[in-house]
Amino acid sequence: MKMASIILVTLFLFNLVFVPSMALPFGFGFPGDYDQQQPPQDNEQNQDKNQKLVNDGNNGNLRVGFYKDSCPNAENIVAGALAEISKTNPNAIANLIRLQFHDCFVVGCDASILLDYSPTGDKVEKSSMFNGQLLKGADIIDDIKSKLEEQCPGAVSCSDTLAFSVNEGMAIAGLPRRAALGGRRDSIYSLASVAEDNNLPMPNWPLEKMVELFTRKGFTIEEMVILLGAHSVGSAHCDVFMERIYNFANTRKPDATLPTPVVNELQQICQNPGTPQFRNPPVNFDETPTVLDNLFYKNMITRNKTLLITDAHLLNDPRTIPVVQQMAGDEGLWQKRFAEVMVKLSSLNVSTGTDGEVRKTCRSTN
Ligand code: HEM
Ligand SMILES: *[C@@H]1O[C@H](CO)[C@@H](O)[C@H](O)[C@H]1NC(C)=O
Ligand SMILES: *[C@@H]1O[C@H](CO)[C@@H](O)[C@H](O)[C@H]1NC(C)=O
Repeated sequence: MKMASIILVTLFLFNLVFVPSMALPFGFGFPGDYDQQQPPQDNEQNQDKNQKLVNDGNNGNLRVGFYKDSCPNAENIVAGALAEISKTNPNAIANLIRLQFHDCFVVGCDASILLDYSPTGDKVEKSSMFNGQLLKGADIIDDIKSKLEEQCPGAVSCSDTLAFSVNEGMAIAGLPRRAALGGRRDSIYSLASVAEDNNLPMPNWPLEKMVELFTRKGFTIEEMVILLGAHSVGSAHCDVFMERIYNFANTRKPDATLPTPVVNELQQICQNPGTPQFRNPPVNFDETPTVLDNLFYKNMITRNKTLLITDAHLLNDPRTIPVVQQMAGDEGLWQKRFAEVMVKLSSLNVSTGTDGEVRKTCRSTN
């Protein structure tokens, strides 16, 4: 089963290329580190204390103010560090949002995605082809976690570090700042096999598989469409959607649902893989890749523009079209709903209390 999935992924990634003998200059493997200089050291707290916090209340065993006694400044430390990092690395917030999604959908929000080694010796989640080089941000969490360790050794879990970072990142990207829920504990193992067991979506999936996965994780179809609005920030590399602009379903023609101007725009950036010019750059999902706005949905409605096949499905089903239309028409509504559904995502099957541990460094268990 596991093997079959790996073969499927490999096929998916490599059937996009016309010239099968061509060696691709990239591939899946251990995630590369983002090449960003260390942010300058300072303890400036960038958070605007006067900004109204939207109250999340309680969510299961998670709660606002969890580190009130053990690390009262935790959220400010995260905010200060992330503000610095995002100055030099504008992709940081997109990296982190995706990292959290991939963490939470596999077992739960337990920072299992961050482990480089599992005590069991098994292959870890992050080494899976399902995550691969395309999943970035683990080193951002290293930086932020080390700032937390300086001030509150052993207090704040890696899963909360990631959750606080995403929460703060969403504020930096334009959403109202919310108080973050804390209390997640870190896993003491990470298994690639679980990531590969139908817990992470592939960009060539049909809508039914997407719906099945998100429903299994406790989300409605509406919530799935709202979460996919995360594709308002960040980018996708050419190879994950190349098929649509050059060789859709092996027709050697672009996807007919993509209008010609969109195909042209994308072909400008993504050269035909059969040519020597072929590179694999990242392409921004929309024209405002650092802002959590509703341009992702607007582009769909006004231009039929999507990069991923899975995103395009949303324009093609009576259950999802009305949600896309609604979100395209009301940015404030999407931002509000997105923040709410992200709370749900970041609370998925968390370990709390005395389960798991609070890791000292996020790449290894204590
Ligand atoms: C059917 C569901 C989904 C599929 C198939 C999917 C697939 C992808 C793919 C292929 C990329 C591009 C990776 C790359 O080339 O670097 C991507 C990027 C991204 N995804 Fe998704 N995704 C899905 C749902 C989600 C959800 C639910 C979230 C978060 C709530 C999310 C957040 C992101 C973000 C922020 C990026 C940009 C990452 C960056 O620029 O570093 N995705 N996704
Ligand atoms: C929830 O987490 C526990 C470990 O904390 C794990 O054993 C269980 O399989 C997880 N549930 C799901 C649906 O992944
Ligand atoms: C988008 O695609 C649909 C169906 O393929 C088509 O009916 C519609 O006219 C297209 N809209 C634009 C703006 O291209």
